[in-house]
Amino acid sequence: MSNKFNRYLCCKSLRPEELATFHSLCFKNAENTFSKKSMYQFLINSNYRILYSKFCLGITQVALTEAEILTVAVLPAYQNQGVGKTLVNDILLDLSSHGIEKVFLEVASNNISAISIYNSYGFTSCRIRKNYYRTENLDAIQMSTSLQ
Ligand SMILES: CC(C)(COP(=O)(O)OP(=O)(O)OC[C@H]1O[C@@H](n2cnc3c(N)ncnc32)[C@H](O)[C@@H]1OP(=O)(O)O)[C@@H](O)C(=O)NCCC(=O)NCCS
Repeated sequence: MSNKFNRYLCCKSLRPEELATFHSLCFKNAENTFSKKSMYQFLINSNYRILYSKFCLGITQVALTEAEILTVAVLPAYQNQGVGKTLVNDILLDLSSHGIEKVFLEVASNNISAISIYNSYGFTSCRIRKNYYRTENLDAIQMSTSLQ
């Protein structure tokens, strides 16, 4: 799978403020976005892995053989063109190549396109957190999949 929008930049060239601004542009609700301080931590700590192109951003946290997808985000102008699906594919390939066996994530229950992507890569729901996104009155769905 390849996509002209998913040409990832080298993390060494990234700045926290650039990532935070990019992330906030992708979400309608600022509550769901990471601050510059969080992005700084993601950049300096080797437990976090970042895939970033000019159009999309994916961040994962790894611990031994398990990982959590912290975010996948695509700029609004490039959504619904396969960029998010390719990004998730690339995240899973990256995690698999680093020995990760199990991947977790959390998604809002109304995020149809994200859930559709996760389902297509074998993620299944393992827990519902009722009313987790309080301002929007939405449940969070925790999902997981096994790699290898
Ligand atoms: C969620 C997000 C990453 C998806 O990225 P994207 O590039 O738009 O997604 P893609 O185009 O690769 O794929 C979307 C899939 O959802 C499907 N989809 C979209 N709307 C749908 C609907 N209403 N019903 C069923 N399927 C739908 C599409 O058909 C497509 O699947 P397909 O390729 O099998 O046809 C993007 O919308 C985004 O960044 N949103 C804001 C941030 C966010 O919510 N991130 C997720 C946090 S968990």
